[in-house]
Amino acid sequence: MRIGLYPGSFDPLTNGHLDIIQRSKVICDKLLIAIGTNSAKNPLFSINERIEIINTCCNDIANIEVVTFNGLLAEYSKKQNISFIIRGLRSSTDFDYEYQIAVANNKIAPDLETIFLMSRGEYFHISSNIVKEIASYGGDISSMVPHYAKEKIIAKYSNHS
Ligand code: PNS
Repeated sequence: MRIGLYPGSFDPLTNGHLDIIQRSKVICDKLLIAIGTNSAKNPLFSINERIEIINTCCNDIANIEVVTFNGLLAEYSKKQNISFIIRGLRSSTDFDYEYQIAVANNKIAPDLETIFLMSRGEYFHISSNIVKEIASYGGDISSMVPHYAKEKIIAKYSNHS
């Protein structure tokens, strides 16, 4: 059984993430959606909130499981016996960052492969950060995130103000 691991901050889940999750079916039998800590980011949602958003928005997708990990992704992946890591790629900026991380992960876990799925054109401009930025100014994020995630983001920013 091929178990893929799709790691990320998912702060929150976007339509771009959802597309990668759905398309992962062609390469793995089961997908672990793994929420990790990106030390460069300051999350808006707690881990439990992010788990709940993913579970709600993915409840009709078979063979997925939401997990969390602390520490290094490569160490976690080794322990979980996963077949490969999946990451989405948008721009060349993504590529530079992702290539470096994939090599670093591979040094820690030499059998660990990272497989990249190219973002579909309609999701190219979407990132959790962009979504939060637009929402924080009251902009429309309907086309960028699932409806449930949109409600949660709007609630966060209305609580803030
Ligand atoms: O959605 P993101 O923010 O791009 O996800 C990044 C994440 C959480 C997958 C990455 O920061 C990560 O793997 N963090 C755990 C620590 C780690 O293993 N870093 C990579 C090796 S330097």
